Amino acid sequence: MKVIRSMAAMRRESAAWVRSGEVVGLVPTMGALHEGHLTLIRRARKECRRVVVTIYVNPTQFGPKEDLARYPRPRRQDLALCREAGVDLVFAPENLYLPDHSTWVEETECSQGRDGASRPGHFRGVATVVLKLFNLVRPTRAYFGQKDAQQVDVIRRMVRDLDVPVRWSPCRPSAIPTASRSVRATVTSRPGNAPSRSSLRGCCRSPPGGKSIRPAGCGPG
Ligand code: PAF
Repeated sequence: MKVIRSMAAMRRESAAWVRSGEVVGLVPTMGALHEGHLTLIRRARKECRRVVVTIYVNPTQFGPKEDLARYPRPRRQDLALCREAGVDLVFAPENLYLPDHSTWVEETECSQGRDGASRPGHFRGVATVVLKLFNLVRPTRAYFGQKDAQQVDVIRRMVRDLDVPVRWSPCRPSAIPTASRSVRATVTSRPGNAPSRSSLRGCCRSPPGGKSIRPAGCGPG
């Protein structure tokens, strides 16, 4: 298993994979890996030739009152779990932002209400870093924790609105254990593999402040 810390090295690796047409699965995380993450990694392992896990505690999704410094960072344990799960590459940069970073991805509908109301700026930070990770890793598929339903909505909407070449795959709830069922969503991507309108239709499933009316991210909205 490779561990990469620089953006330049990550770009070189992903460019080589894209050139050779490898199917690359991305599991973006902030570390402190748990069973939910491992379920995503196992799924990626089954579906993809290469599996990349990113470990990056993204400062821009933390509010001023949220303690970024105290976020758990059990790096050794995380790497051991990744190795055991058959991950090919861990991308664990120290920093992903230039000092004068000034460009943000702001989704303005799905991000309203619920966590969006209690954590102003949170989804802007999430959408921005996820787009950066997509650009650096260039995954064919990406796997997100389904328990963060609003996050999944926001990313899905960003992908549709910005024409990110990513497509949601239908999920097969019966194929995963009940305990993990709430923690999986999959998107697929490849340069030139633009999302179909139908696959991204109606991606914001629940009204701002309302409850999800069906399992989040399970197939086309
Ligand atoms: O769900 C998370 O762990 C984070 O929000 C993510 C998607 C890795 C972006 O930092």
